[in-house]
Amino acid sequence: MRKPILAGNWKMFKNTQETRELAAGLKSKVAQAGDREVVICPPFTSLAAAAAAIQGSSIKLGAQNMYWEDKGAFTGEISPGMLKEIGCSYVIVGHSERRQYFGETDETVNRKMKKAFSSGLLPIVCIGETLAEREGNATFKVLERQLREGIKDLAAAEAKQLVIAYEPVWAIGTGKTATPQQAEEAHAFIRKTIAGMYGEQMAGEIRILYGGSVKPDNIKELMGQADIDGALVGGASLEADSFSKIVNY
Ligand code: PGA
Repeated sequence: MRKPILAGNWKMFKNTQETRELAAGLKSKVAQAGDREVVICPPFTSLAAAAAAIQGSSIKLGAQNMYWEDKGAFTGEISPGMLKEIGCSYVIVGHSERRQYFGETDETVNRKMKKAFSSGLLPIVCIGETLAEREGNATFKVLERQLREGIKDLAAAEAKQLVIAYEPVWAIGTGKTATPQQAEEAHAFIRKTIAGMYGEQMAGEIRILYGGSVKPDNIKELMGQADIDGALVGGASLEADSFSKIVNY
């Protein structure tokens, strides 16, 4: 049984004060969600405030990015050790906005993902095709490349803990969700590709989240699909009311 994960990617929203308010609101609303994991990923500057606010709850903390070195002259970067110390257990790696605006590639994704594991953080590795790629019938080709390059060279113990987020770029922040059938088709393909890389058993344990305009009114149908094990939620994770409805789908 794969335990569902409902993760909120806050992107560049919520200062410390707003973080305390949102986290407190969530704490009271998602307390019953024992059969699923709830993760919030605030901006770096709000991680400490979030860690304090969720204390005593089962909500877990994640970061939105990290660098692959432990320390050094890397101005502006944050190390995995810093994230661990502040209370993170997850880290998002290779979000499409990082690939699009900040030059991340399958190679940097692979480095970060491996470093996350060796530092005791669980990576949520994001993959997904653009609209042009989908319309050009290249969706599977792109997903396969992102997986073969992005998640290669993992030890078995790591591979089974991997979390993938399938986020079609055309569905992010656009209000255009993939249909449950489109999402399931991609998720099944992703699991098959991972089976080719790490074996059937491993692929059966890996959780694959869907992301892209997930809302309270579409989460249930998405979660009804065989290969969808949770969601990575952007916009709808910024209000306690909508995110808790998603968590309690
Ligand atoms: P969205 O973002 O839910 O606002 O579409 C999802 C994401 O980028 O992770």
